[in-house]
Amino acid sequence: MVPWPRRAAPSSLPGPGSPEAWARRATASQTEPGLLRLDVPPEQGESATVNWQDYESEGVQAIAGSATAEELDAARVQYLGRKGDLAQALRGVRDRESGMLLNGVRSRLEAAIAERREAIEREELETLYADRSFDVTLPGEEFRRGRLHLLTQIKREIEDIFLGMGYEVYEGDEVTDTWHNFDALTTDHGHPSRSPSDTFYFSDDVLLRTHTSPDQIRLMESRQPPIYAISPGRVYRRDTPDATHSPTFLQVESLVVDRGITLADLKGAVLHFFRQLFGPQREVRMRTSYFPFTEPSVEFDVTCFLCNSEGCPVCKYSGWIEMGGAGWVDPEVFRNVGYDPEVWAGFAFGLGIERIAMLRHGLPDLRLFWDNDLRVLSQF
Ligand code: PHE
Repeated sequence: MVPWPRRAAPSSLPGPGSPEAWARRATASQTEPGLLRLDVPPEQGESATVNWQDYESEGVQAIAGSATAEELDAARVQYLGRKGDLAQALRGVRDRESGMLLNGVRSRLEAAIAERREAIEREELETLYADRSFDVTLPGEEFRRGRLHLLTQIKREIEDIFLGMGYEVYEGDEVTDTWHNFDALTTDHGHPSRSPSDTFYFSDDVLLRTHTSPDQIRLMESRQPPIYAISPGRVYRRDTPDATHSPTFLQVESLVVDRGITLADLKGAVLHFFRQLFGPQREVRMRTSYFPFTEPSVEFDVTCFLCNSEGCPVCKYSGWIEMGGAGWVDPEVFRNVGYDPEVWAGFAFGLGIERIAMLRHGLPDLRLFWDNDLRVLSQF
């Protein structure tokens, strides 16, 4: 590798940078009393002699005459710039007297520039303020802040409530198989939810989960009891969107497996949850129902938080709002995951997150959540 040529130190080598050459550039001469002249280096043009008093007063004049920051900068480049006479001459200075003279010129020019710069900035502000069309009291441009989607907010609120009860939050897969979505949950082959007209299939046995219940199976397959968990997430069904249907929506599954769990534990958990979510006066009731994977199965209602059960359009004047499905885990489901149903007992429930959001905020249409209309979403 060829080394980059270094500039030789002036004292060691003769040539353009030799002591003789430098000395020639910096010859100070006293031609008139009080007037110091100094030669500029010959390679910067003709070896003109500069009258530094004139240089300074011209510089001061140019600085004082600059009306704008750009003009001032041009004056600075001309009189103090790296290629200007002063900088060139300073580089060649050999004696103390010339150095003092030139440094004096430099610092006075620098001071003049600083002073003028301040004045120009002040003048610019004053003209800005004097302009009546500019109102300094107007608020600045507002940054639009992002926020979490209402459904995410409610999902997190639900997670917080269950975390407070010592449950864990589990996240299952949206793409699953017929074993987890149906078979392990003892959903028989004739069940309508298995039909390709109800469910999105990728192949004969791979599909988009139709509920969060397959997470029950995944949880149980992955460990031994006790289990206290919720699993919130997105589910998919082949529905045409309308005010109350959507091909995708959010559910929260809950699964508890331990020794001696009864339906009373289920009711207690659900009651605590709804009191946290909708207020301490809430009551819960259960009605018998059917799900393939719970026995017995129930659907649960909560007292209307809008009218306090007096009767209103939201609870259809019944005082109760339907919230979800639940039940005691079917022993057959335990056998499917290798648990002994003689030892373990448990409950599960599932509910819809959109429904909670719609009830709480009086939203009339499910599609409002997906339309991404900020006029709607930014209210929450
Ligand atoms: N998975 C059921 C549904 O989507 C709800 C449910 C969950 C019912 C857990 C019972 C127990 O309708």
